[in-house]
Amino acid sequence: GVFRRFPLVPVAGIPLMEPIAQQWGPIATFRARPDDLLIATYPKSGTTWMQEIVDLVLCGADEAWAQRAPTHVRSPFLEICSPPPIPSGVQQLEQTPPPRVIKTHLPVQLVPESFWDNDCKVIYVARNPKDTVVSYYFFDQMNKTQPEPGPWPAYLQRFMRGELAWGSWYDHVCGYWAAREQRRILYVFYEDMKEDPGREVQKVASFLGAALSSEVLARVIQLSSFAAMRDNPMANYSSVPHTLLDPAISPFLRRGEVGDWKNHFTVAQNEAFDAHYQNRMAGPGVPHFRSQ
Ligand code: PPS
Repeated sequence: GVFRRFPLVPVAGIPLMEPIAQQWGPIATFRARPDDLLIATYPKSGTTWMQEIVDLVLCGADEAWAQRAPTHVRSPFLEICSPPPIPSGVQQLEQTPPPRVIKTHLPVQLVPESFWDNDCKVIYVARNPKDTVVSYYFFDQMNKTQPEPGPWPAYLQRFMRGELAWGSWYDHVCGYWAAREQRRILYVFYEDMKEDPGREVQKVASFLGAALSSEVLARVIQLSSFAAMRDNPMANYSSVPHTLLDPAISPFLRRGEVGDWKNHFTVAQNEAFDAHYQNRMAGPGVPHFRSQ
């Protein structure tokens, strides 16, 4: 197979998969358009869910249109660099007609400057770190291009030290939180989306300048539900080669819940994590997370 587990190479101090680091130039100089919408997340925070919601909001929940292509084609992944002949994210975006919806996991300081120069809208989705790291652990097993996750206890330590691909979760969520003062950033929490999807979809719609009838809103909620997306081949990544993402190891839409971390953290891991978290996230100007 053409896919292999790539090592991580730092770009400006952020560990990224080797092909991304090697092709950093075209990513950094990516030319955003004013009508581009960026969906930014730390990995496993609800990116795919938000991609589906945005697509549904923009098309008035036209189910057939939202199933025209898989997620990664409808809203390409900016920095992804797959082995040739698969085009890179930047190459795919050059072929994507406007208005473009673009996915990125880059921390705010690595977002290409042209997004800020063009005052592009950004939707940031943040998820509590415990569920994020559990989701990432399963993903790193099924994604054959990410580094081998190895045993869970050491993996959790690497997450806390910011050594996984795309770097520190703590810096990522705080970076966008601070940037939202100056930029057009809608900052959304995964836990709020689970609690009241209608309220959060409405926030997204008003940020995008779309008015939703109650019928359309109901369809957006239904079509972006976990069960609907899990069973939708255009939203569940089942169309990509299984040599890249292997659903037999773990499905991409795995659990979709708040609090699954309780099934994976030991009591001691949880205590150590909480102590580290309090230390790392102390002070004003940080986002507040719920994980229960
Ligand atoms: S990626 O690879 O970073 O783009 O992954 P990402 O989409 O950010 O995160 C995947 C997790 O999001 C869950 N998910 C959902 N949860 C609730 N509702 C919906 N509709 C939904 N869609 C995706 C997905 O199941 C992954 O979380 P876990 O906890 O592993 O199930």
